[in-house]
Formats: sequence, C-alpha cells, structure tokens
Amino acid sequence: MDKLILSGGTPLCGEIEISGAKNAALPILCAALLTSEPLELSNLPRLKDVNTLFMLLEQMGVTQKAGEDARILDASGVNNPIAPYDLVKTMRASILVLGPLLARWGEAKVSLPGGCAIGARPVDQHIKGLQAMGAEISVEQGYIHARATRLKGARINTDMVTVTGTENLLMAATLAEGETIIENAAREPEVVDLANCLIAMGAQISGAGSDVIHVQGVEKLRSARHRVMPDRIETGTYLCAAAVTGGEVRLTRTSSASLDVVIDKLTEAGCEISILPDAIHLKAPRRLKSVSLRTAPYPAFPTDMQAQFMAINCVADGVATIRETIFENRFMHAVELQRLGADIHIDGNTAMVRGVPRLQGATVMATDLRASASLVIAGLVAEGKTTIERIYHLDRGYEHLDAKLAALGASVERAGCAHLVIPA
Ligand code: EPZ
Repeated sequence: MDKLILSGGTPLCGEIEISGAKNAALPILCAALLTSEPLELSNLPRLKDVNTLFMLLEQMGVTQKAGEDARILDASGVNNPIAPYDLVKTMRASILVLGPLLARWGEAKVSLPGGCAIGARPVDQHIKGLQAMGAEISVEQGYIHARATRLKGARINTDMVTVTGTENLLMAATLAEGETIIENAAREPEVVDLANCLIAMGAQISGAGSDVIHVQGVEKLRSARHRVMPDRIETGTYLCAAAVTGGEVRLTRTSSASLDVVIDKLTEAGCEISILPDAIHLKAPRRLKSVSLRTAPYPAFPTDMQAQFMAINCVADGVATIRETIFENRFMHAVELQRLGADIHIDGNTAMVRGVPRLQGATVMATDLRASASLVIAGLVAEGKTTIERIYHLDRGYEHLDAKLAALGASVERAGCAHLVIPA
C-alpha cells in the first residue's frame, strides 16, 4: 500500500505546470461515445481515474491511439454498451457513459455507482432527466437498465444542482429529437469545457455556464479536436500548499478565470497573488490569517477546495468557520488533522477551526481524494515527519503529486509498492 512521507517546515518555492482538469477530462472522454468519428483530446491528465475510464471505454469497444501530444478516441466499433460494477465501483464518474450510450445506441446497462466516503451520492437526477427524455429505465440487481428508440427533447428541472447530472443530460440531449432545456443546470467551468467540446463536434448548445442550458438535437456528431481546460482544483491545492508553508510559487499552464473565490480567500488570508496570462503567482505571508467559508455550487466556494482550506486554517491566526453544504460527510479529514494537533470542532455540517502555532507530524490515513490533499498540505507545515497511508486516493486526482511537490522544494518520499505506472 503506497505511502507518502513528508518532512514539514520548508516553504514551497519555484514553478510547476498544472495538468488538465480531471473533472473536465472524464465527461469529455465519455463524449467520444457520441460519434463514430475520431475525437482528438489534448492536455488529458495522467491520472488513475482517467486510466480507469479508458479501460471502461475500451471494454465497450472504443479504441484509442496516441496523437500529437493527444489521445485519439474512436467509438465506431462500440458493441458492448455495458459499464460493469467492478469498474464503476472504483470510479463513480463512470455514470457519465449512460447519457451518451442511450443517445447513440438506444440502450445501456450501467452499474449503480454506489456511495463513497463523502456521501451517498445518488444518481436519481440523472435517471429522472433521461426518463423525461423518453428513456425506459429500470434498476435491477444494482444495475441501471436503460432503453430508448430515440431520446426526445424535454424541459428538465433538476431537484438540486448536479454537475455530472447536468453533464449526462447535456450529452444525451445533443442527439435527441428536438429541443432540450436543462434548468437549475450546474454552472461549473468543467460543464462549460464539455459543452465547448460538444459544440466543436457539431452540437447545438447555448447557455452553458448559466443555470439554463438549451440544446437543439442533431442527427449526428462529428470528429473534433479539443484541449482539456486546466485543473482549477489542482491549482487551488498547490496555492494552498504554498500559502501555508510561507512560500512563493508560480503555477503555469493554468487560469485564474474559474478560481476567483479561492483567490479572494487566499488574499483575505494575507497572500499576495498576481494573475498572469496563463499563470498565477503567489507570495505567502509568514503566517496566514484564518478565513471562514461556505461551500456551494459554482460560482460560490467549491466543495473540492474545502478540505484544503481546513488544513491551512489549522495553523492560521484566528478562528475559522467552515460550512459544507454539498456533501453530507465531507469532514473525514478533520479527525486525521486532529491527529496532527489541529483544534477542530465539528457540529453537523459546520467545522470550527482554531489556528494553533504548529502541528506535529504523525501517521495519518487518506479517506478520499480531497481529504488526502488536505493531509499533504498539513504534512508540509507540520513539525517532523508525517506519513500518509492509502495515497492511492491522491493518485486518482493529482498527476505526479510527489514530483511536483519535490520540484517546489518539499521533502517528500513515496514508499510502499511499485510506482503507479501511467502510460505516457
Ligand atoms: C462532481 O461530482 C465532481 N466530480 C465532484 O468532484 C464535486 O465534488 C461535485 O461535482 C460537486 O462540485 C466530477 O465531476 C467527476 P453532484 P457529482 O452531482 O457530479 C446530490 C472530486 O473531488 N445528488 O454535483 O457526483 C449529491 O449527493 C470530486 O474531484 C443527488 O442527490 O456531484 C450531492 O449532495 C468529488 N442526486 C449534490 O447533489 C443526483 O442524481 C451535488 O452532487 C445527483 C446528485
């Protein structure tokens, strides 16, 4: 079982490149199912989750080959519209094949993703929206069985803002007959990136990035090239790591466009941040000021940055209130941070974090992707050695994390089984 061993106390300094966005790459890879022509994707991050999705698509009959700093996917030979439990259980975003399979093949058998550490994470809104478009859907033996001769455009209003729910319905609507209107749509930048890829493939979409998306169905989609957007959560994670260690970093191949609220919070905490055309420069103060936050759908504070901000608040000057409104169990990192000496009090979906002068290194356990990132950030500033176990969670969402941290001067070592080998 891989572990990460960190020795805290070194300010992070230097420059690293940000990778493509995991949460844009996953739906965009599924969009390849919507056409029989090649889809060329660049800036795909080398992540475990991306690999898992490649395996799932290949099981369905999608082929892929390397292009010029890109992967070229071809779904012309798909003959097995099934997403099996053994793959879906390791990567919930596999549910994103449901809409495309229904739209292009008229049938799909997709395992229910099941819950995960941060919550039950049902997919009822995905199902409800597809049923509104005429799909016949039953759930038997843990699988979603879906059929539709041809999906029909519909007006859909999701009960809550759902990112992958919006993405599934958006992809399904591109080939449906007539117009689909998705109300209460997710506004996340990753939804916009997916829409831009679909438009390049010939889809007729307007309103992506707003809470009402209009889609005029077309007969078929065509070949396209698309460059995946930079990962805003990876960007925010490294900004937090530099901020808490009193460092100075430049993150390149990224954009601040979708990070305003995170940048505002780091500025409020005392960081000097300058925005460059495709980079962000941060200079941290000696000690951060506590900053309170409340997560909510974009453009509000992203839930995927909540754990990282809990970590930096652990040693900040003051008391911070953190309210998590998206997932019912997304404070799993708190007990691990307490093992490092953090002063955190949890009351329902609210955490009260009182900054302490310093954390002490210890062995801690990663429970989910962003909780793991929070432990890395804490380990970078804790006195002595911090060993983080079960770091396979990290490899799901952070490309070459140990190498990038080492490039910024961190003392970090990966121990345990063989390195995660991800094809170039
Ligand atoms: C996406 O998950 C992201 N994953 C998550 O990032 C992110 O935390 C989340 O959006 C919120 O921003 C990907 O994009 C692959 P939701 P998703 O549907 O789409 C409830 C990470 O760390 N809900 O927006 O699964 C749900 O339980 C991951 O990179 C229903 O009840 O999240 C949650 O409480 C973690 N029924 C809320 O809505 C549904 O049918 C928002 O979930 C769908 C969702």
